[in-house]
Amino acid sequence: MAKQRSGCSFLYQLLFAGQVIQILGITVGINYGQIANNLPSPNRVASLLHSLSVNRVKLYDADQNVLSAFINTDIEFVIGIGNENVSTMTDPAKALGWLQQHVLPYLPYTKITCITVGNEIFKGNDTVLMANLLPAMQSVYQGLVSLGLDKQVNVTSSHSLDMLGNSYPPSAGSFRQDLAVYIQPILNFHSMTKSPFLINAYPYFAYKANPGTVSLDYALFEPNEGVTDPVTNLNYDNMLYAQIDAVYSAVRALGHSDIEVRISETGWPSRGDSDEVGATPENAAKYNGNLLQRTAMKQGTPMNPTVPVDIYVFALFNEDLKPGPTSERNYGLFYPDGTPVYNIGLNGYLPPMLSSSFKMMPALSIFGIATAISILT
Ligand SMILES: *[C@@H]1O[C@H](CO)[C@@H](O)[C@H](O)[C@H]1NC(C)=O
Ligand SMILES: *[C@@H]1O[C@H](CO)[C@@H](O)[C@H](O)[C@H]1NC(C)=O
Ligand SMILES: *[C@@H]1O[C@H](CO)[C@@H](O)[C@H](O)[C@H]1NC(C)=O
Repeated sequence: MAKQRSGCSFLYQLLFAGQVIQILGITVGINYGQIANNLPSPNRVASLLHSLSVNRVKLYDADQNVLSAFINTDIEFVIGIGNENVSTMTDPAKALGWLQQHVLPYLPYTKITCITVGNEIFKGNDTVLMANLLPAMQSVYQGLVSLGLDKQVNVTSSHSLDMLGNSYPPSAGSFRQDLAVYIQPILNFHSMTKSPFLINAYPYFAYKANPGTVSLDYALFEPNEGVTDPVTNLNYDNMLYAQIDAVYSAVRALGHSDIEVRISETGWPSRGDSDEVGATPENAAKYNGNLLQRTAMKQGTPMNPTVPVDIYVFALFNEDLKPGPTSERNYGLFYPDGTPVYNIGLNGYLPPMLSSSFKMMPALSIFGIATAISILT
């Protein structure tokens, strides 16, 4: 334990020395949401992410302006098919057409490695959509097979943690009884196609719902006693790992120990309404700063200590047009002008807006930025 702690503080210093982060690269991926009217152009965002050494990005769609701005950048992309298009994709010809239009033209220059079909479909109550999810995933997969791309692009979906009926203790995690009929065959699909099961997990929601009983330090990866699972005797020092292991248990309870669980979204808001307890810049900095440190250490969860957790942080920018409570518009690591919302050592460089003649030459602007950085460092 003492040994682990000194390891922690060593990495902490490394991470907070901005330059080292640029050499090591950031081991978490970042969700690049665009529900906003004030975001920088994708070419400028490509420069920002390059300056941060981010190498994995997740989109909620297959925006061609974004995918073409990231040509030859070495960044791996997860792209998405929105819930509104999932039912259409049950038609194999439509799925193939979508791949031919949104994936094929960008490979191999933009590295698309995963397609999410739908987001949090089991959170709603549209049972037709729920029933269409697997056939849509199968059509997209068959399309990839016919294009010879199934080995380099995974097909999956992102799920809400709400789909668990029980999440405590982690060893007793299980899916909601009424959803098993949909989830069982989806798990069989993941097993057959060797693709990961993705979950959006927010310890913030658990804390906000019960600030009197849930330990803030436990939710924020700060030093605390932790929680011991009475069945396995494993100690959890943070809530996110307990949530991940609850999902592993739920997957196992449906007969699968061969599927990897990954985190497609997690994060902490830096602002909220008066009833959104805990949404502060200090807490967001602790959550995301500690998360970066944990992933840099390649930690696994107590149940799978040798499998490093695989995480996409939500989100790159504050998104001003997201509906709902104030917290929804304040999950970003950065303001739209490229300045960090709080300091966790992520000081990227967002180039100024270029004149229109320059905008037509993204390769030149990226080259220019790379030069600027090498002069600065
Ligand atoms: C996806 O849904 C949107 C909104 O209904 C629609 O405009 C678009 O054409 C659909 N895309 C495909 C590929 O079906
Ligand atoms: C569930 O369906 C009802 C009626 O169809 C609707 O009013 C409600 O908003 C839905 N709830 C969710 C979470 O989608
Ligand atoms: C697809 O998912 C599997 C299982 O999680 C993983 O091992 C593999 O690296 C993924 N493939 C790509 C191209 O990302």
